[in-house]
Amino acid sequence: MVDLLLEADNAASAVHCNIEDPFRLKYHITPAVGLLNDPNGFIEHEGIYHLFYQWNPFECAHGSKFWAHCISDDLVNWRLLPTAMAPDQDYDKNGCYSGSAFVENKKLMLFYTGNVKNKDGTRLSTQCIAEANSLNDKFKKRGPVIDNPPAGYTAHFRDPKIWHDNGVWFCVIGAQTIDKKGQILLYRATNINDWELIGPLAGSGLNELGDFGYMWECPDFFELDNNYILICSPQGIEIEGDKYHNKYQSGYFIGSYNLQNHEFKHNEFAELDRGFEFYAPQTTIDSKGRRLMSAWMGIPEEDDQPTLVYNWLHALTLVRELKIKNGRLYQYPVEELKQLRKNKLSYQDILVSNSQSFAQIHAPCCEIEIELNDIRGSCGVHFNAYDHYHIGLTFNPNNSKLSLDRNSTPNQSGVRSCALLSKQSLKLHMFLDKSSIEIFVNDGEEVFTSRVFPLSETRNISIYSHGSCTITKFDKYDLS
Ligand code: FRU
Repeated sequence: MVDLLLEADNAASAVHCNIEDPFRLKYHITPAVGLLNDPNGFIEHEGIYHLFYQWNPFECAHGSKFWAHCISDDLVNWRLLPTAMAPDQDYDKNGCYSGSAFVENKKLMLFYTGNVKNKDGTRLSTQCIAEANSLNDKFKKRGPVIDNPPAGYTAHFRDPKIWHDNGVWFCVIGAQTIDKKGQILLYRATNINDWELIGPLAGSGLNELGDFGYMWECPDFFELDNNYILICSPQGIEIEGDKYHNKYQSGYFIGSYNLQNHEFKHNEFAELDRGFEFYAPQTTIDSKGRRLMSAWMGIPEEDDQPTLVYNWLHALTLVRELKIKNGRLYQYPVEELKQLRKNKLSYQDILVSNSQSFAQIHAPCCEIEIELNDIRGSCGVHFNAYDHYHIGLTFNPNNSKLSLDRNSTPNQSGVRSCALLSKQSLKLHMFLDKSSIEIFVNDGEEVFTSRVFPLSETRNISIYSHGSCTITKFDKYDLS
């Protein structure tokens, strides 16, 4: 019998990192080969962070998914361990789909969806458990513990996120009703093998929400700063003004949760990221009490990227810490990232006026903090490379909109915008890697995450104003 786990490990280790590859990221989790999608099983266990991801080791396409396994003691330097799970059982033969991790009797355990697609087009989705052996790397599958979706739901039933509260296990699962409405189902168990459906926690047409998509994937539910947050990735939502421009969305509902009757009263859906590539986020709480989030820097069905030539696709975002401020989620790059900083370059109090540009810096991998004040007229940041690659970030103080425009890049297009709370000032905290950019705006109020594919090593980054503004802070660090 073919040992799929071994074949996956061999595929990854056979790759000699191609030095000609201009897009291979330097400080993000990327697959050595094949396609990566959702982060899975994010957890801190015995002082070590574990982060798994959905992986197809054999081609740059979606297919029968494996779980790749990375560990870190600082959320920044990740080490790839042997592949954790392969689709090698009858109940998961077409994919060990997304899920989460938990600890039972000190053992690291995985809770995931076994995906089966039969030749006649029918689908089976079961929620399955696997346990780590003493080495924490190879996982022993125990099989399904939730067999079928409940009556009234289709087989689009996946991505269990589990937690433990007061002696009871709970999990949320992404689901679809037979009349094609996306929902999140809540289950409970007093022992990990016997699950009971409580009911839908939220969904399209529920809790005073109108029509909101035909499928909700990758749920996550947790308490943060006395609020409850439901994160999910709904599919089938129409564009509305500046919102929902990506093919599929990821965002959150914030509200109150009644622990007795399990009622979740929530506000409107808010997108977690305003960039072009962001999907399927997953969080965990660490031993420092931080709510940490990782996400896929990609979107389902958008796989036509220049890294295909180098036989790999997609990456995970940097790990972010979540906090609540004034009723909304704020996101911060984790503190630990500061250890990557080298060669600080700093400027202060520079007036930029009349379309003049300031700062030409050359760095493919860097972190930049910019603060602009006394903004009169639109201003922003241009990123250029010598291969006609150009993206622009523009802030318009009249409507307080910030836009990321990649219409002038050779292989990408589109604009993503959102309104900010402040009109007079702008703070940008940007992380640039070889083929990605993550821009934290106004201390985590919004984030723009995107893949970018400039060919040349040298990037010029300039700040401009079509009126005037003062650069009160400009700090740049090379990251290595
Ligand atoms: C989200 C998703 C999940 C599923 C996984 C399969 O990107 O579609 O719902 O479990 O990817 O790889």
